[in-house]
Amino acid sequence: MIKMVKKMIVNMIEMLENAKKGSYAVPHFNINNLEWAKYILEEMEDLGRPVILGVSEGASKYMGGFKVVADMVKALVSSLNITIPVCLHVDHGSSFEVCKEAIDAGFSSVMIDASKYPLEENIRITKEVVSYAHERGVSVEAEVGHIGGSEDNVSASSFNATLEEALALCNETQIDAIAPALGSVHGLYKGEPNLDFTLMQEMKEKLPVPMVLHGGTGIDDEKITKAIACGISKININTELQIVWSKDVRKFLALHEEVYDPRKIIGSGKDAIQKRVREIVTLYEKNRK
Ligand code: 13P
Repeated sequence: MIKMVKKMIVNMIEMLENAKKGSYAVPHFNINNLEWAKYILEEMEDLGRPVILGVSEGASKYMGGFKVVADMVKALVSSLNITIPVCLHVDHGSSFEVCKEAIDAGFSSVMIDASKYPLEENIRITKEVVSYAHERGVSVEAEVGHIGGSEDNVSASSFNATLEEALALCNETQIDAIAPALGSVHGLYKGEPNLDFTLMQEMKEKLPVPMVLHGGTGIDDEKITKAIACGISKININTELQIVWSKDVRKFLALHEEVYDPRKIIGSGKDAIQKRVREIVTLYEKNRK
């Protein structure tokens, strides 16, 4: 008899469809190392909610490459007895080759970010990624307009998407999720985030796939709730967890000059990460049906 093996990590299609139907958003947390992945997985398991672990090219290089990350996350899921749906997703993959490498290494989802190119070229590259990914059960997110900010691979200047461009990207590529630039930026905001909720609502009604909000850090609770009501089903968070973690680590180091054990130093930011993860999930599910 063939033994049924539980799939360790899944693509994001079902979790985003459920979120869209249930009027909530699935959190995408960027990971930087083993500890980040472990803390987030433990907390999300405790909450019993699905999670997307995002890995930028820079973070992947830092950790030793996509294969190291995929094997590490799968081993954590298995060893920690994680039972929630976990999606391992490339954040802002810059080319077909990068996405292919991650898929071959075992990622269950990729974002191809060809938003720096004209729309036709964005569509051509995205199509190529979708074809390779879908044959292997891997989901694909793509970006239209351009979300700028301080993330690696992301240039500084943003420009918003139009409905026509977003429709063309969805319909011509068969992507599973779309990240339209609607005023958010990566990293810290200079002034108030200015999100185009009118266009977001229109896109919710007209686009065939769930929408993703990048640059989740620094958007206040009210705007996040409004964005979810306007159709956002996945929200990307990176900077915010880095800030809460580093704040507590700095405090710990100032109080414990005698400590040199890296496990104690890195671990001193664990509670801050887990507390913020819990708050974020509670916020994203505030009006869950
Ligand atoms: P923040 O760093 O602003 O949270 O953005 C994260 C993000 O959008 C990752 O793609």
